[in-house]
Amino acid sequence: MRIVSGMRPTGKLHLGHYLGVLKNWTELQQKNDCLFFVADWHALSTSYEEKLNLKALGRDLVKEWIAAGIDPQRCTLFVQSAVKEHSELYLLLNMITPLGWLERNPTYKDQLEQMRHKEIHTAGFLTYPVLQAADIVIYNADAVPIGEDQRPHLEIAREIVRRFHHLFGCEIFTEPKEILAPDSRLPGLDGRKMSKSYNNAIYLSDTPEEVWQKLRGAKTDPQRVRRNDPGDPDVCLVFDYHKALTDDVTVQKINADCRAGSIGCVECKKICAASIERVLEPIRERRAELDDETIDEIVRNGNISAKKEAAKTMERVNRAVFEIACETE
Ligand code: TRP
Ligand code: SF4
Repeated sequence: MRIVSGMRPTGKLHLGHYLGVLKNWTELQQKNDCLFFVADWHALSTSYEEKLNLKALGRDLVKEWIAAGIDPQRCTLFVQSAVKEHSELYLLLNMITPLGWLERNPTYKDQLEQMRHKEIHTAGFLTYPVLQAADIVIYNADAVPIGEDQRPHLEIAREIVRRFHHLFGCEIFTEPKEILAPDSRLPGLDGRKMSKSYNNAIYLSDTPEEVWQKLRGAKTDPQRVRRNDPGDPDVCLVFDYHKALTDDVTVQKINADCRAGSIGCVECKKICAASIERVLEPIRERRAELDDETIDEIVRNGNISAKKEAAKTMERVNRAVFEIACETE
């Protein structure tokens, strides 16, 4: 299958990104033709006021992907804004996308609500899903790995494809299926969603000391005052981490020992820190081998391959739109 997915370059990646997205990508790359890109235009749609260095953020993002196990030999890694064909297709798709589809988009409404502090009543933000559709269909992706919040965007992409085919009488695009990320919602250290803006995240770049300091301060079952008090793992954040990161046998044992009051929270957290280290250590090692020049080279090559593919699609699209001529592959 041809797989396409993108990520906005908005800063450091955390464990939630790894478990929710990157782990999935590393598995998909084994058997599929994957294109992963830095969605820098999309980042601009919500952060145009912030003067972000998107070039540097994009490079850092790709470095994190590779450190996390994305293999540049297997995948095409590129930057959205380096492939101008995305913007050309975005323009054309905007011509045929009814405003109602965009205004009704639940993710759009949620985001407007959540980002009240930002001025995102812009054309760019409203048409975010149109650009996303262009990103996907320009490569004829069969499937797109996404999180729950992106489902409406993929549905809009499929609707746009159908409308394009209907209007121009030409079946150019593949309707992309979704690959829903396994719901490994790892909460942040305060129990809310793990997010940079809540200051509750464990970053892929944290040192073992930083991880331990964060974990040490995490709240456990508040009913447990003394070490021998029986606890309830179901109300304990650390146990959520164990479920996501520790092997099943150990998880069962912790569950029983906590309820029996036979394991202390510090000991339990140490096991948890070890589980986190099993993920972070190889990432740390790979990252140490990567320099900026290597990343830039990988991205330059990725941009060239992506552009080749995108340009092929645009030739057919432009023939369909401007000459009402249909060539299906
Ligand atoms: N909107 C996606 C997100 O915020 C990022 C994205 C942009 C994307 N274009 C894409 C994801 C195309 C998948 C396919 O996570
Ligand atoms: Fe949480 Fe572990 Fe303490 Fe139980 S023993 S309350 S699961 S930290």
